Amino acid sequence: MKSIFVLNGPNLNLLGKREQGIYGAATLDTIRQDCSRTAEELGLAMDFRQSNHEGVLIDWIHEAGGAGTGLVINPGAYGHTSLALHDAIRAVAPLPVVEVHLSNIYARESFRHHSTISAVVLGVICGLGPQGYSLALRALAARS
Ligand code: DQA
Repeated sequence: MKSIFVLNGPNLNLLGKREQGIYGAATLDTIRQDCSRTAEELGLAMDFRQSNHEGVLIDWIHEAGGAGTGLVINPGAYGHTSLALHDAIRAVAPLPVVEVHLSNIYARESFRHHSTISAVVLGVICGLGPQGYSLALRALAARS
């Protein structure tokens, strides 16, 4: 059975400890459990991962292109800098991809206002905290 991949980029392993005023108290493990419940409800298999390394995220996007039915990605700060993530998402087209950010990146520093991947994803959810992940899973399920 093909899975929906949920990929998390750099520093997201520190959720719950990191800048709680911005990112909240939920840990990545709590978000994984929420996603797991939503995926089960939707009858989807899910593969939830985190890496601090750009190349690893790129390898996983390629893997999702072969073994996935959809991709949810919180690219962390690589979403503001990485042309390689942009190219990797284009390379696995037409895999549907939803970009998620916990915080509202447009209400923060100007360097966060640009995303290198938004132009090549199906949709973007930001500012809704952990709920954004479940909404992204629901959006992908509705298309499959
Ligand atoms: C983030 C927003 C990014 O600007 C930041 O670099 C992160 C987390 C978010 O989920 O709000 O690491 O992607």
